[in-house]
Amino acid sequence: MTLNPNNILTKFMERFGSSPIVVESPARVNLIGEHTDYNDGFVLPAAIDKMIVLALAPNNQNRIRLYAADMDKFSYEVDITDQFTKSEIGWPDYILGVVDQLQIRGYQVGGFDCLFGGDIPIGAGLSSSAALEGGILTGLSSLFDLGLTRLQMAKIGQKAENLFVGVQCGIMDQFANLHGESGKVIRLDCRSLEYSLYPFKRDDIAILLCDTKVRRELASSEYNVRRKQCEEGVRILKQFDPSIKSLRNVKHDFLEHRKDTLPGVIYNRCRFVLDENQRVLDACNNLLQDDIKSFGQKMYESHYGLRDLYEVSCRELDVLVEATETLDSVLGSRMMGGGFGGCTINLVYEHKIESVAEQIKQHYQAELQKPIEFYIAKIGKGASVLEVV
Ligand code: GLA
Repeated sequence: MTLNPNNILTKFMERFGSSPIVVESPARVNLIGEHTDYNDGFVLPAAIDKMIVLALAPNNQNRIRLYAADMDKFSYEVDITDQFTKSEIGWPDYILGVVDQLQIRGYQVGGFDCLFGGDIPIGAGLSSSAALEGGILTGLSSLFDLGLTRLQMAKIGQKAENLFVGVQCGIMDQFANLHGESGKVIRLDCRSLEYSLYPFKRDDIAILLCDTKVRRELASSEYNVRRKQCEEGVRILKQFDPSIKSLRNVKHDFLEHRKDTLPGVIYNRCRFVLDENQRVLDACNNLLQDDIKSFGQKMYESHYGLRDLYEVSCRELDVLVEATETLDSVLGSRMMGGGFGGCTINLVYEHKIESVAEQIKQHYQAELQKPIEFYIAKIGKGASVLEVV
């Protein structure tokens, strides 16, 4: 594993011969509030202790020289004055997209070298892409004195992904990557971008991630379809109330009264989003009252909505959630992130974590005969420049 910051630093110096700064940039989990961010709704993510470590230094040439320590196709180079096009390798696009956005906004970025590695499983729904964007932005802001705020970086990262990579994601992942704090979850209002930190520090409860190992290309195309379906819902509902700008402005009663005017699928998508927003607010109250059981129950409800109304789950994710339904040591379980694969997130009594993992594994393998992987996530801080050497 190349994650140790000193390894990344050493590799960088061997490869490029200069002294870099080092940035740590975390993955994220989302406790509840799925597919709500691009509907101006509420989310409850947190940065975790899986991360990308990046070493960066200016090279005083007009080149961007990139090296990904863990990838098969590991190096990429481009002139910073070129009109960037997609790399065909995948990972450089997140970096090029970010530099492109910085240039569009008039920030002066010179040539730089970057080497990175990490332990975020790719395509598992833990936002390795937002970690790369946030890490590069944190690094470049420091190297070239750009003075970017965390919010500006989150917005630039999201735009890079929307416009350069072509995934119409919301802002949750980039926001969580940059605003995380140890022991806290972030309740973000994706309309106003105001946020509050909620304590999530119960020593007896752990966050267990179960990875289906399913990685589907479908995820990004279906993601964009869901976005369009929500927009279609807004377009129809607007005819009854022109002040509606997003599903955030729609109340349950209003939706139910107009149910017959909406195609069934569009109604289901809208209904899920309204339910899920309410669940985030209720779940935050549960946290304040330290009522983790009710919180966990909302996670299950979120999963069933994602499965039945929003239709972004898959058999593997459903089997993992089903496996926990009869386990008293699991408080809540649901699919996490965009869907169609990746991980479930589970709240589990810490002292039972091994037996829970074993029981989930047995159920999964009996049903599907497929490999599974587990990660324990600890809530940590957002992307930051490390004091090293
Ligand atoms: C992906 C996107 C996020 C969010 C989630 C679903 O992770 O990047 O913006 O929409 O899916 O909640």
